[in-house]
Amino acid sequence: MFKINENYLKLPGSYLFSNIAKKVAAFSEANPDKEIIRLGIGDVTQPLAPAIIDSLHRAVDEMGSAETFRGYAPDLGYEFLRSAIAKNDYAERGCDISADEIFVSDGAKCDSGNIQEIFSVDNKIAVCDPVYPVYVDTNVMAGRTGIYDTGTETWSNVIYMPCTAENDFVPELPEETPGIIYLCFPNNPTGTTITKEQLQAWVDYANKEGAVIIFDAAYEAYIMEESVPHSIYECEGARTCAIELRSFSKNAGFTGTRLGFTVVPKDLKCGDVMLHSLWARRHGTKYNGAPYIIQRAGEAVYSEEGKAQLKEQVAYYMKNAAVIYEGLKDAGYDVFGGVNAPYIWLKTPDKMTSWEFFDYLLEKANVVGTPGSGFGPSGEGYFRLTAFGSYENTAAAVERIKRL
Ligand code: MLT
Repeated sequence: MFKINENYLKLPGSYLFSNIAKKVAAFSEANPDKEIIRLGIGDVTQPLAPAIIDSLHRAVDEMGSAETFRGYAPDLGYEFLRSAIAKNDYAERGCDISADEIFVSDGAKCDSGNIQEIFSVDNKIAVCDPVYPVYVDTNVMAGRTGIYDTGTETWSNVIYMPCTAENDFVPELPEETPGIIYLCFPNNPTGTTITKEQLQAWVDYANKEGAVIIFDAAYEAYIMEESVPHSIYECEGARTCAIELRSFSKNAGFTGTRLGFTVVPKDLKCGDVMLHSLWARRHGTKYNGAPYIIQRAGEAVYSEEGKAQLKEQVAYYMKNAAVIYEGLKDAGYDVFGGVNAPYIWLKTPDKMTSWEFFDYLLEKANVVGTPGSGFGPSGEGYFRLTAFGSYENTAAAVERIKRL
């Protein structure tokens, strides 16, 4: 008889956002007359920018002619896109990252789940608490965690670094040394950020202890304040300890189009072994590359036209963030995030648990958000709203919450 990967059986229930979708579907079926506003999952609502659509159309036409047709994409991504990324996202910010250290993929969710494969199962991981659930769940699947304690809602063999209002949502260096450290800034779910000095302390720590940092910068386009780093490679020494994950979903609306990339510097080594070689081997073996037309669409993100259009799109969502932030503050809520990120993190009122507040908002205001405890035990008593809705829906949702 074959055997299954029993690590999967350790996972409780279903993925957070699948759970929420099921609850909302049940409510909607029971209350067909209610108009639900969804500010739960961080999915964008604005259409792709015109420069991206033009580029897609041109690429689709190329696929219809034998002279310009493309089959399998190069494993690591087309040169035109990797060069555009290296120039715009890194060289122009003073970061030393070359095009051949960039691996184009179909998104940061997959990369953040897959990257753990190149590390031994013997590594202990450290995660912020609350945290994007993919980092933890994929390590559970790989067998890198112990068992789940339903009382504390934590896994054994995982280092949790609480990020709450008490420490300004900045994790402290752990007492026990991890092998792999996951950091995400601007943060999902709290919408808060880290200063360059604080990030530098993490880079110094990782280099000193021989740990690797997996830095998720999916939300960097939402940074409005000068002091906030866009990339971990702005820190000295990051080339020897950090992998960076980036997405086109949030900065350019590619949640349904799928495109992202991972940076693995060639200086990042375990003994003599370059992690770059391992990730290249993995990519070449398991992946046939993001589609040509999508990579051409990604290239348009870096055109002058594309940049101008996307700046407007980010501003649109950040206006929503301000509406939520200010509206809830006026209504007496304790609110965080929303200044350099499209997420607003609020304290639930009247000592309600995160899920109690979820049910209350859904029933009384017909607004969907995400319960903070779904991101980890330190998220209990908090709640996340996203700024990715339409302006009209966002303003209406805030009015409904204010009226409660
Ligand atoms: C979220 O809502 O936390 C994220 O948008 C989900 C994702 O990016 O996979």
